[in-house]
Amino acid sequence: MGVLVPWRSRVRTGWGVLSFLSGRPGVLRGLGPSREVAPLQRVHYRTMAQRPAMVQLDRTQFDLIVSVFALAVPPAWGSALRHVLAHHVVRIRGLRGIFQDSHGDHTSDGNATAGNSVVLLLRYLASSIDDQHLFGNLSRAGDGSREKVARLLASTVEDERGTLKLPSSASRHDKVLLPEARRYLLALDGDHLRVEDIHLGYELWNADQVLKRILPCDATVPTSFESVGHIVHLNLRDEHEPYKAVIGQVLLDKVKGSRTVVNKVDSTGGPFRTFQMEVLAGEPNLRASVRENGCTFQFDYSKVYWNSRLETEHRRIVESLSPTDILADGFAGVGPFAIPAAKRGNRVYANDLNPDSILHLVENASRNRVDPPELLTTSTGCARQFFRSLIESETPFTVAVMNFPAGSPEFLDVFRYAYRSKATPLPTVS
Ligand SMILES: C[S@@+](CC[C@H](N)C(=O)[O-])C[C@H]1O[C@@H](n2cnc3c(N)ncnc32)[C@H](O)[C@@H]1O
Repeated sequence: MGVLVPWRSRVRTGWGVLSFLSGRPGVLRGLGPSREVAPLQRVHYRTMAQRPAMVQLDRTQFDLIVSVFALAVPPAWGSALRHVLAHHVVRIRGLRGIFQDSHGDHTSDGNATAGNSVVLLLRYLASSIDDQHLFGNLSRAGDGSREKVARLLASTVEDERGTLKLPSSASRHDKVLLPEARRYLLALDGDHLRVEDIHLGYELWNADQVLKRILPCDATVPTSFESVGHIVHLNLRDEHEPYKAVIGQVLLDKVKGSRTVVNKVDSTGGPFRTFQMEVLAGEPNLRASVRENGCTFQFDYSKVYWNSRLETEHRRIVESLSPTDILADGFAGVGPFAIPAAKRGNRVYANDLNPDSILHLVENASRNRVDPPELLTTSTGCARQFFRSLIESETPFTVAVMNFPAGSPEFLDVFRYAYRSKATPLPTVS
């Protein structure tokens, strides 16, 4: 039976489980790269109210070790039991809840202590920790009591009709073994369970969990950030000022694909809807590359407007165009409506007040091989003038796009009476 043994002075650890079997050295069971830490300590976190805030990221402060109950079963039944007991198994992103244990021993009666076995790390804590709710599906149920946990597992198979069903994907072999596995579970008692220590290193904590520990208890955890290519963009509050470098570092570590973290230092302002930003962490490279609706857009995020949350709206408009539609985009930005539309073969007129937007739009059009390039005509200037000159020159367009939340209705007057004496068709305004 597995027992808790004192921590060794130096063990190899990584993202995963340290399996301590009686008299054996700690064995790394985990995913991802290993690293040396010495010595590993059992960390007793203070309650949220007591812990100090962190202005510099100390990743070792996140080496949390928790003890959970585990069930080692004979390999033959492993697959069937992992289906049946799935909801009792620990679920923490990046941690393997079920693994082969080639070091253990289990006896022929299935008492799970000899030979190769399949170990199911159960989600029930064998020792109490603060903040356990922060991690996956760990639970206090059966805390400290093997018998209670054993009963919980056995109860899974008491109702033969309901919970004992295997998914249709389960193998025939598993289905044949199921009654045997069921008998095993019904006979289970506390002695079948062992205790395993799980090392929840920094790698396993998500951004929210790390930030909750880092910031003072009464501070808001910044949860809403936007990713624009490799750039993570935050809008921090004054209360975050002392912690902004550490917040930046955490997001750099935790947001997949991020290489730069920036903070908005003023509200999105000015007609170009760009904002001042400071780099909190990572490389000071604000040239983003974003893939949207089948096109690649590259731009300097400090000079032009971009909002990844508009992807669906961009797609909705573009997909609503019929092949004969002619699009006039008065506030075109770097081209998220104009370029996919031209790529579909629609004739497009694109305009923006910001010269940098149009520079990027032209580059993006050639990057995305708008063919023929003449499908797209660009201009820099005020949208009012843009629409007026199209109408006055009787240049036909069937769809006008005005994505300027700050004040597009104020531009609608350009259409009033404009078509009275014109033969050109009336456009739809979006
Ligand atoms: C909300 S952004 C939309 C950009 C683009 N359509 C998109 O969806 O990403 C508004 C754009 O309008 C431009 N703009 C602001 N005032 C303008 C004006 N009077 N005439 C034309 N463009 C203007 C800004 O430079 C900015 O690129």
